[in-house]
Amino acid sequence: MATAPQTAPSLRVLFSPAEYEAMDAKDLLGVTCVVFDVLRATSTMLEALGNGATGILPAREIAEALALRTRHPQALLAGERDGLRIRAHLTGSIDFDLGNSPREFTRDRVEGREIIMTTTNGTRALEACRKARAVYIASFGNLTAMARHLVASQTEYLWLICAGTLENASFEDALGAGALVDRLLKETSGPQAWSLDDSSQITWDLYRGHRHQLLEAARCARNGRRLLAQPELAGDIPVCFEEDRNPHVVQLGADQVLRKIH
Ligand code: MLT
Repeated sequence: MATAPQTAPSLRVLFSPAEYEAMDAKDLLGVTCVVFDVLRATSTMLEALGNGATGILPAREIAEALALRTRHPQALLAGERDGLRIRAHLTGSIDFDLGNSPREFTRDRVEGREIIMTTTNGTRALEACRKARAVYIASFGNLTAMARHLVASQTEYLWLICAGTLENASFEDALGAGALVDRLLKETSGPQAWSLDDSSQITWDLYRGHRHQLLEAARCARNGRRLLAQPELAGDIPVCFEEDRNPHVVQLGADQVLRKIH
């Protein structure tokens, strides 16, 4: 068990784009952000890096992804709009190589490759955090690794950013944030080691209420029901909720590339 910092670090959760897009550089000074998009962007990014992709270049818009491709011609283009792979009718000319399903990012597709990725909310949330002291991505797949790293790095202000669904909060991201709160408390001496605000307490309670039926909990989520309604995408849900499937710490570098740091 790691030693907690001298003063209890403060823990906060931001639930929706309205909250995270209102953050400015001044708010983010000294803050560590961990971005969750459980269904599916951050789960998929973890799967890609776990299967040997060398880095992920997040882009908020399709046009930005295409511009990055001209500078990184060997990179794979990945991403979704309305949950489906981006096709020529949205780019004007080219089909993306991959969508946003973690099951597409197999070792034989991604090993040794850079990936440029744009998704509806996941890459939008990452962009909003760019000015933070440190930015990581998380999902159920890397909870323990993420918690251990955060405790060891003794951050003073830790904000868990839920990417959400379109303009709204999402159940699965709040659940993921709560699962990380739970792990952080387990890695230290419990609630007294942290200054939990109401938002982190809400997510912790939510997680403790659903921890034994996470897959069933996916049905409470608008995104979960959307994926379950499409036979070719329903299989993404167990992958996105599998705990410690990709036990890596992934950080956004100063060059705006997501890479495994361990
Ligand atoms: C997003 O970034 O909004 C999501 O990952 C959407 C999806 O499930 O494809």
